[in-house]
Amino acid sequence: MNEMIVGLDIGTSNVRAVIAEFDDENVLQVLGVGECSSTGLRSGVIVNIDATMRSVTQAIEQAEMMAGREVSAVVTGIGGNQVESINSKGIVGVTAKGKNNHEIKKEDVHRVIEAARAINFPTGKEILHIIPQSYIVDGQTGIKDPINMIGVRLEVEAHIMTAVSSSAMNFNKCIERAGYSVQGIKSKTLAQSISVVTQEERELGSILIDLGGGSTDILVLIGGAPIYATSIPVGGIMVTTDISKVRGISIETAENIKLKYGCCFEELLDEYEEVIIPGVGGRPPEVISRNEICQIIEPRMEEIFNMIREKIAQQTKLKQLSGNIILTGGGALMEGATELAGKVFDTSCVRVGTPLNLGGQVDIYKKPTFATVIGLVSSTADDIKLKYGATSNDNKHKKIKGNLKNSVITFFKEFF
Ligand SMILES: Nc1ncnc2c1ncn2[C@@H]1O[C@H](COP(=O)(O)OP(=O)(O)OP(=O)(O)O)[C@@H](O)[C@H]1O
Ligand SMILES: [Mg+2]
Repeated sequence: MNEMIVGLDIGTSNVRAVIAEFDDENVLQVLGVGECSSTGLRSGVIVNIDATMRSVTQAIEQAEMMAGREVSAVVTGIGGNQVESINSKGIVGVTAKGKNNHEIKKEDVHRVIEAARAINFPTGKEILHIIPQSYIVDGQTGIKDPINMIGVRLEVEAHIMTAVSSSAMNFNKCIERAGYSVQGIKSKTLAQSISVVTQEERELGSILIDLGGGSTDILVLIGGAPIYATSIPVGGIMVTTDISKVRGISIETAENIKLKYGCCFEELLDEYEEVIIPGVGGRPPEVISRNEICQIIEPRMEEIFNMIREKIAQQTKLKQLSGNIILTGGGALMEGATELAGKVFDTSCVRVGTPLNLGGQVDIYKKPTFATVIGLVSSTADDIKLKYGATSNDNKHKKIKGNLKNSVITFFKEFF
């Protein structure tokens, strides 16, 4: 079925799949959602192909069942410390289109973006995305769209995101072994930004923080485009491990306690609330306060936010970012996460990022944990609409439908 877009987010804690389809108005509708736990990854990197493959199959089959569709190809994401980014510049002379006609055309823009690609980066890495930040025409800076302008020299400032090739190949291998083909691979945070960051936020300067299970991934955007992407190999699993170690309980019990009673901002807990910790090995159950659990969680979460702050401060002036801090991933569901981030970054502009409403199974996917997979689907839909020049209110959907599969492949085939 050519009109289907399938997003697959293979995470350290969970694998999520979403099947979406363009309706007759060119609007994407979510038809099926699948979610299952993941055991084959560590900090966003595949360490067990078979286990990952099983989770992929389970998540896709769940989504297939709900959608009543059969999946053959997926768009997936890569994150963690496998993704890095760098800012680059490209310069070209504008091709004359006749006597004294130096009007900038699409081809010139393509050429200048290609010129920005010519950077040195370590072997074993591949370019995942080149995102134009702004253009300069004959020295005039800050141009967003240079097409049809007159100029002899065109420059672009671009953000380049790279991925470790072997890691991307492992994602590819798992998906293919599970019986599906890979139409594309995108940066997870970049995909998320399409789904949870508003245009105003990306212009003003915002920080997207994905609090995942195995890693915390960050994307900084300003002037409408990303300027910095990074990751910390610490996430919610570490918080659970802390609880398990401090209280001497299993990881499973610690995870349940975290999900049920966890809070990372003690000021929010004004009433005494008790937590019953089941006894281990014949020990009687213990009754402690929620504050005691918070005192384990808060320092770790504070440490994570501090690490993020330091990393970003090394790259850019935090004061320059006057938009919001947007939290996604499972950690964004932790009580007190926005308050703690606000304290560390000294701002009140923090919110939880829930994905765009794409219609269909809204109640299932309208959660920060679905930001990546919905982002994968939405950004792929945008790529296709851009390529075929269709908007949601024109009538080119027949063309989109017919060309969907091929267009996605063209967009991403460079990577593999
Ligand atoms: N309500 C909640 N309160 C606190 N933590 C939560 C909550 N729900 C989920 N989490 C935590 O979020 C983490 C999983 O988040 P998520 O599903 O976004 O990770 P992932 O995408 O699989 O991992 P990664 O992005 O690191 O590869 C787990 O550590 C889980 O304990
Ligand atoms: Mg994730």
